[in-house]
Amino acid sequence: MARQPILTPSDDADDVDRDLRPQRMSDMVGQRAVMERLGIAVDAAQKRGEALGHVLFDGPPGLGKTTFALCIPRELGVAIQLTSAAVLKAPKDLVPYLTNAEERSVLFIDEIHRLPRAVEEYLYTAMEDFRIDIVLGDGVNARTHNLWLKPFTLIGATTRAGMLSGPLRDRFQLRELLSFYTLEEITEIVRRNARKLQVQLEPAAAEEIARRSRGTPRVANNRLRWVRDFAESRADGRITCPVALDALEMAAIDHLGLGNLERQYLTTLIRVFGGGPTGVEALAHTMNCATDTLSDEVEPYLLRSELVVRTPRGRVVTAKAYDHLQLRAPDAEQPQGRLFS
Ligand SMILES: Nc1ncnc2c1ncn2[C@@H]1O[C@H](COP(=O)(O)OP(=O)(O)O)[C@@H](O)[C@H]1O
Ligand SMILES: [Mg+2]
Repeated sequence: MARQPILTPSDDADDVDRDLRPQRMSDMVGQRAVMERLGIAVDAAQKRGEALGHVLFDGPPGLGKTTFALCIPRELGVAIQLTSAAVLKAPKDLVPYLTNAEERSVLFIDEIHRLPRAVEEYLYTAMEDFRIDIVLGDGVNARTHNLWLKPFTLIGATTRAGMLSGPLRDRFQLRELLSFYTLEEITEIVRRNARKLQVQLEPAAAEEIARRSRGTPRVANNRLRWVRDFAESRADGRITCPVALDALEMAAIDHLGLGNLERQYLTTLIRVFGGGPTGVEALAHTMNCATDTLSDEVEPYLLRSELVVRTPRGRVVTAKAYDHLQLRAPDAEQPQGRLFS
């Protein structure tokens, strides 16, 4: 059985966000309620000397699921193994991670909603009783053996908790839904990260970048990096408000933080589907992009900012979306009441 490398939380070498990612929970901004509950659970687990209960993080991309998952083992002072459901195609792919898990260590499975059903089911006894069945030998000589595991903590991250089976969801003691950040929180993240990147940033520029970051730390980091590049190439390296606004305009990011893809979603819904209702699959086909990209990455912020609503018959744009795109809503063109006045 191939041994998987056991990683410490700082070994995540291909982590592109590493330079800006908070290393400890105390460095994280926002998500106060989540942080408080996790703090209590971590504290209690440490006092009892037991493994922390399994934790599930749910929420749109870029809100801090991986960051929390990497901070928790640091708080506990234990090792972490990282993997993603995309590479766990069969139970045998999971076995090395489970048998390598040290006592009280963390196993992080990203995109856990993508686990095939057989792998999901294999996790049930591992999570509940720290036990798995392994088959040794072939054909008529095959024997099933019970293997006891060391108590460990499974941390799962998903953009779609609804896709997990009920039994898997129920085996997580803590289920935390991460929500979008406030403008103040994102502004604070932008300020802190400008310091980490050693770039001078005017307070007003920090707020403008934050305002256009869709309440999402990862988006804020990407905007900040772009504005920094722009300031270095087109100005004297300092991020002033005019520099930030020029940079964001050049990247086609509007004052709500929408980029080309978000605007294309809204204009397709309006121009091709008359404003809706329409299904996300039809939109994805028309826009020639993946349905998952739309539903996981594009829609959550459009829904939360009330540019789009979901109805039983499909997605519908709101008056706010017409306003934002400076398009006339159909009701405005044919005011029905006026026909009779
Ligand atoms: N609470 C937070 N405070 C500060 N920065 C954060 C926070 N959450 C996320 N970030 C930043 O956003 C980036 C993306 O977060 P990540 O945890 O990778 O999101 P997810 O796994 O939910 O897609 C991180 O690298 C980090 O720099
Ligand atoms: Mg992640």
